Amino acid sequence: MEKKVLLAENQPEFGAGLEKALEMTPADVVYEIRDSGMKGRGGAGFPTGVKWNLAGASSSDVKYVICNADEGEPGTFKDRLLLEKYSERLIEGMAIGGYAIGGSHGIIYLRAEYPYLIPAIEKARKNLMNKGLLGENIKGSGFSFDVEIRPGAGAYVCGEETSLIESLEGKRGEPRNKPPYPVNSGYLAKPTIVNNVETFCAVPHIILNGSGWYSDLGAGDCTGTKLFSISGDVEKPGVYEIPMGAPLKDLLELAGAKDVQAVQVGGASGSTIPASEIHRALSFKDLPPGGSVIVFNNSVDMIEVLANFMEFFVHESCGQCTPCREGNLRLMDAIHLIINGDICCVESLTPFFELAETMKLSSKCGLGQTSANCFIDIINNFVELSGECECGECNCEGGDE
Ligand SMILES: Cc1cc2nc3c(=O)[nH]c(=O)nc-3n(C[C@H](O)[C@H](O)[C@H](O)COP(=O)(O)O)c2cc1C
Ligand code: SF4
Repeated sequence: MEKKVLLAENQPEFGAGLEKALEMTPADVVYEIRDSGMKGRGGAGFPTGVKWNLAGASSSDVKYVICNADEGEPGTFKDRLLLEKYSERLIEGMAIGGYAIGGSHGIIYLRAEYPYLIPAIEKARKNLMNKGLLGENIKGSGFSFDVEIRPGAGAYVCGEETSLIESLEGKRGEPRNKPPYPVNSGYLAKPTIVNNVETFCAVPHIILNGSGWYSDLGAGDCTGTKLFSISGDVEKPGVYEIPMGAPLKDLLELAGAKDVQAVQVGGASGSTIPASEIHRALSFKDLPPGGSVIVFNNSVDMIEVLANFMEFFVHESCGQCTPCREGNLRLMDAIHLIINGDICCVESLTPFFELAETMKLSSKCGLGQTSANCFIDIINNFVELSGECECGECNCEGGDE
C-alpha cells in the first residue's frame, strides 16, 4: 500500500532521469516506457510507449510534445499539485518525450483557471536551463529542447487532445475527426504527442529505475501508481497516491470516508457506484481511474447530483455533433421529469436509456461518448421509481394509453 513514487518524500534530483535518457538511444527510451506498461494518466489509458513509438516512427523534421494541463474534469485537482510542486519533473519528462520521438519543442497547455501557476512553471524552466538541462545542445548531446506555456481556453472539451490542438492553433476548440491521429498529424499538422501532466511526471522515474521496477508497483497489466484527487464527504480531502489495481476501499479509508452512499470514480463521465461495490479495483479493467473520486454520504439526494452533472455536460458540449448536443439536453429533460414526479415507472425511461446507448455509440468525441454514464449509473443505482405504473397517464405498458 505504501508505494509512493510521484509524491514520495525522497525524490531523485530533477534532471537525473533526462541525463540517463540522453545516454540511451531514443528507441531504447521508447522501449523502456513501453515495457513499463504505463498507460496515460489523462483518463483514456492509452499505452504511452505505443503513442511515443508511433510519433517516433512518423517522419518529419519538426515534432511537438504537448502537456495536457487542462484538468477540467469536475473534482480533479491532482495535476495542479504536480504543477505546483514538481514542474521540473514535468518538464524533464517532456524533454525525455522530445528526445524519444525526435522533437525539440514542448508546449504546456495550462488550464485557464490556473494562471497563478505560471511563475512556478517558469521558475522550474529557468532552474533546468541554468543546470544545462534545457535549451540548445543539452549536456553536449546534440539534443535541444525547450518549453512554452500556453493558456487554455476555459472549456472542458479543450482537454480532448484534438480540440486542445485546435485551440493552440488559435481556432475554436472543437474535436477533430480521427484519423489522422496527432502522432501523425497533430499541432500545425506535425507529428505530436499529447500526454497528461501525471504521465510526463512518471517518465523520469521509469527511466531512472527501469521498466520492471515500475510494472512491479501495480497489479497485472495495470502498472505503476496513480494519483487521485478525493473530495466530497470525506474527513481528509486531498491528493493520494496508491498502486494501480488497489481496491477503492483502501483510498476511501485513507481519506476518511464515512456513511458512504455513492462514490463517483473518474469524474462525471466515469462510474458512480454504490457503497456495496467499494471493494472493486481501481484499474482500467474494473473502475477506470481518472483523476477524480467524489464521495456522497447518505444525506445526499443523488438525483440532484445527476442534475448538476448533466447541466455541466449540456453546457460543455461543443455542439458539433447531434447525439451529444441534443442527447444531453434530452437526458436533462428526463431528470427534470423525475424531479417533478412526472415519471413514475422505470419503463417510461426506456427511450432515454436507448438514447444514452446511441450517444455512447455515435458521438464524435469522448465527451458525448461518456456523458450518459452518470445518467445510467445514478438512475439504476440510486433513484427509486415504483417499477410498476399506477398513474394511468404515462405511455408505459402499465398505464392506460
Ligand atoms: C472532454 C474531454 C476532456 C479531457 N480533458 C483532459 C484533461 O483535462 N487532461 C488530460 O490529460 N486529458 C484529458 N482528456 C483526454 C485527452 O484527450 C488525451 O487522451 C490525454 O491528454 C492523453 O494523455 P495520456 O495518454 O497521458 O493520458 C480529455 C478527453 C475528453 C474527451
Ligand atoms: S461529442 Fe459533444 S463535445 Fe464531442 S464533438 Fe460531439 S458535440 Fe462536441
